Amino acid sequence: MNDLSLRRGDFPEGFVFAAATSAYQIEGHAFGGAGRTHWNAFAETPGKVHGGHNGAIACDHYHRWPEDLDLVRQAGLDGYRFSTSWARVMPDGVNVNPEGLDFYDRLVDGMLERKLKPMATLYHWELPEALGKRGGWTVREIPERLAEFATIIGRRLGDRLWSTAPINEPWCVAWLSHYEGHHAPGLQSLAAAGKAMHHVVLAHGLSIAALRAEGVSNLGAVCNMEYPHPATDSEEDRQAAEIYDGIYNRWFAAAMTRGEYPEDVLVGLERHLPAAWRDDMSLIAQPIDWFGVNYYTCKRLTRGGDVWPNVVDLPGPLPKTDMGWEIYPDGLETLLRRTAEDYTGDLPLYVTENGMANRDVTLGQDPERIAYLDAHLRAVRRAMDAGVPLKGYTFWSLLDNYEWAFGYDKRFGLVHVDFDTQVRTPRGSFHALVRALTG
Ligand code: FCB
Repeated sequence: MNDLSLRRGDFPEGFVFAAATSAYQIEGHAFGGAGRTHWNAFAETPGKVHGGHNGAIACDHYHRWPEDLDLVRQAGLDGYRFSTSWARVMPDGVNVNPEGLDFYDRLVDGMLERKLKPMATLYHWELPEALGKRGGWTVREIPERLAEFATIIGRRLGDRLWSTAPINEPWCVAWLSHYEGHHAPGLQSLAAAGKAMHHVVLAHGLSIAALRAEGVSNLGAVCNMEYPHPATDSEEDRQAAEIYDGIYNRWFAAAMTRGEYPEDVLVGLERHLPAAWRDDMSLIAQPIDWFGVNYYTCKRLTRGGDVWPNVVDLPGPLPKTDMGWEIYPDGLETLLRRTAEDYTGDLPLYVTENGMANRDVTLGQDPERIAYLDAHLRAVRRAMDAGVPLKGYTFWSLLDNYEWAFGYDKRFGLVHVDFDTQVRTPRGSFHALVRALTG
């Protein structure tokens, strides 16, 4: 496929097309006085990260940001979703590094100069290592400190940010990192995961309140969702899919929009939550102005394992991306509809990430990525036709970058990056986007 079948004119006036990146994945944390994050320690632990790769240089965006913002503009996009590294701004988690704040100041001004909407995420996983050593997301100090960071960012940048979300993908911050152990700090403990599942939504609520107190507007949340298929239609598999849905999707939406946790998840997790968790629920459900969904794939769930939640996933039949993730655009439509119907109502919804990892056969050609984006954009359009108040769509990612535990091995960019020379080469998907948005 060489062209997207939908164009800007197929979406309402004002619909926001954007591309996303995140700080640690592109900036280069060896520069500008950034502190060590828990990802440094994780990457140094043998076997945790492909090739032991880390974000020391990444895309050298710290120095090359003008060129990168030019690319966003050239693509015809309206906004740029970026993140502010906590470890850059507060290297020890407590004291401010002025160089770090200055960097984001320049970056935001750079977006405005290019008529791009600055769409900020405060925490895209750069926990300062010093705070990790104090217990990280398993202790209540972290949500309180994140709210301090939110105040600092709000005070410095809040007058110019178009939108702000405190946390990227709370499921990854809590479950993937403390129960599955695939992300820093790499714990595999239900007790730790329970604490993190609560603290991460508390951090969202406290940070929203802190940003509001600084007068920052257009505040939201960014949650990842996966479509949960039962592996077969047996009752056991249906239950496995239901509990997976509860942990992955419903926990965060219910907490943030209603101040509740789903009962079916509480059955297994309540004994691991902080004792006074109920007292925090109204803080967590702060009013927000929009809700963002990151979507990539579906899972096939079956009963397995000796302990709650007794769920494992099996390989599915659909074509897969280079991550091994099944390509299932209908899941995006269904989850957007369910989110609006069950949780967010009339609140504006955004797709805040969607994209695929793909190998380059011929540099610059990526028909598979164009087909992936096209199918998902059509799913977005169907959700809108069904009445979902969807106001924008964000591609992951502008650039190939540090794909966490997969290091530099997985390429998600609309733009190819040669990590030896730092040369950027726009791929076919980038050019298809230019034609769809500006043609
Ligand atoms: C999301 C993350 C993003 C990137 C993509 C592929 O879970 O937000 O940083 O890793 O997946």
